[in-house]
Amino acid sequence: MAFDIATPQRPTGASEAALDLYEATLRGHQCFAGDPIRNLRKAVADSPDFVMARVFTGYLYASGTDAAALPSALAAHAAVVDLPANDREAGHVAALGKMARGELAEAAKSLSEVSAKYPRDALALQIGQLLDFLRGDSRGLRDRIGAALPHWDETMPGYHAVLGMHAFGLEETGHYAAAEATGRRAIDLEPRNGWAQHAVAHVMEMQDRREEGVAWMRGAIPNWTGDSYFQVHNWWHLALFHLGLGQTDEVLALYDGPLWGERSTLAYDMVDASALLWRLRVMGVDVGDRWQALADAWEPAVAESTYAFNDAHAAMAFVGAGRSDALAALRAAQRRAAERPGDNAAFLAVAEPVVRGLAAYGEGDWRGTVEALQPVRATAHRFGGSHAQRDVIDLTLLEAARRAGDAGMAAAIEADRAAIRLRVID
Ligand SMILES: [Fe+2]
Repeated sequence: MAFDIATPQRPTGASEAALDLYEATLRGHQCFAGDPIRNLRKAVADSPDFVMARVFTGYLYASGTDAAALPSALAAHAAVVDLPANDREAGHVAALGKMARGELAEAAKSLSEVSAKYPRDALALQIGQLLDFLRGDSRGLRDRIGAALPHWDETMPGYHAVLGMHAFGLEETGHYAAAEATGRRAIDLEPRNGWAQHAVAHVMEMQDRREEGVAWMRGAIPNWTGDSYFQVHNWWHLALFHLGLGQTDEVLALYDGPLWGERSTLAYDMVDASALLWRLRVMGVDVGDRWQALADAWEPAVAESTYAFNDAHAAMAFVGAGRSDALAALRAAQRRAAERPGDNAAFLAVAEPVVRGLAAYGEGDWRGTVEALQPVRATAHRFGGSHAQRDVIDLTLLEAARRAGDAGMAAAIEADRAAIRLRVID
C-alpha cells in the first residue's frame, strides 16, 4: 500500500485496489488532470463504505460552482454522513456538507481544523484553498498552505502541488518574487502542475510582463493542456497577455478555439469567456455575434443564484447580447437568493452593484456605471475570484469614468492600478 498521507488512521472502508485508485485520482487532481469522477465511481463500486472516495466525489461536484451539480454534492454527502469514519474523515464529511449547502466559510474552517491536525492531508489543503479562492480570502490562500509547509518536503508525493498552491497564495497577497520562485520550483518538480503554471502567469499578469507571459504559457502548452480540466482558465490567461499587447486577433482566435470553441457550459469556463469578451468590449473591439451563444449557455445556469460571482459574469453576456429580459430574470433570482442562508448573500452584496453597473454600461449610462461600481471597488474581493479576474470591474469603471468626462477619477484609477502592479513586498 502506498498510502502517503501522514496519519496513523487508515482510510476507512477501502480495499487495497480502491485505495490505489483513490491515490491515483488525488495525484491527477493535483494537476487537474484525468477523469476523477469516473475513477472515484469505480473506487466506490469496489468499496461502498470508502468514506474519502465518497467525500472526494462530493467535493468535485461542489467545486465547480455549477448550480446544476450541487444536488450531486448533497447526495454524496448524504451517502457518506452515516458511514463509520475516523477523526480526519469526519472533518472532511462535515466540510463537504457545509460546502454543498453553500456555507463556504464554515467549510473552509472545518478544513483548517483538519489541516491543523493532519497537515499532510493534501486534499484538505487543496479543497481548503479552493474555498479560500471562492471567498476571495487572499490571506487564507497563502497562510492555509504556509501553515502546512513545514510538514512537507520534496521526498513526498504531492509536494509540487503544495508549492503550486503556496505560489498562488503568495501572488494574491502581493509577494510576487516569492510566488514566482515557488511556482517555478513546483513546475520543475511536476511540469504538468497547471495550478503552479497559473500562479506564475498571475505574477506576470500583475506585473504587466506580457511578452514573458506569452512565452511562459506558449512554451509549455503540452504540459498544461492534455487531459487537464483547468486548461480553459490557463488559455484565458494566455489570451489576457495577448490582450495586453493589443493583439486582439490572437485573442479572438483563442476564444474561438481552445477557450470557448467547444461552448462549454461549465461555470468556470463561461466566466472566462464572459470576462474576455467584456474586456474586448470595454476596449472597443467588435466581437461580432459571439455574445449570443454565450448568453444562451448562461441563461439556464443562473436561473437561480447560487454563487454570485458567476451572476456578474452572466450579466456581462446578457448585456453584451442585448438580453434585457435575461438580465431582469437574473436580478430577480439575485433578490430571491439574498434571502437564503449561506455565504452567497454576502457575495451578492458585491455582485448586485456590479450587475447594476454592467447594465448601466450597456445602456451607455456612464455616470450610472460609475455610481454603481465605484463604491464596490474596495470590497469587490468579498465575492471571490482573483485580482486578475476582478480587474474587469476596475477596467469597466475606468472606461465609464473616461466616457462620463470624469478625468479626475479616471486618472486616479489608472494611478492606483499602476501602483499595485509595481508593488513588491517580498
Ligand atoms: Fe487565474
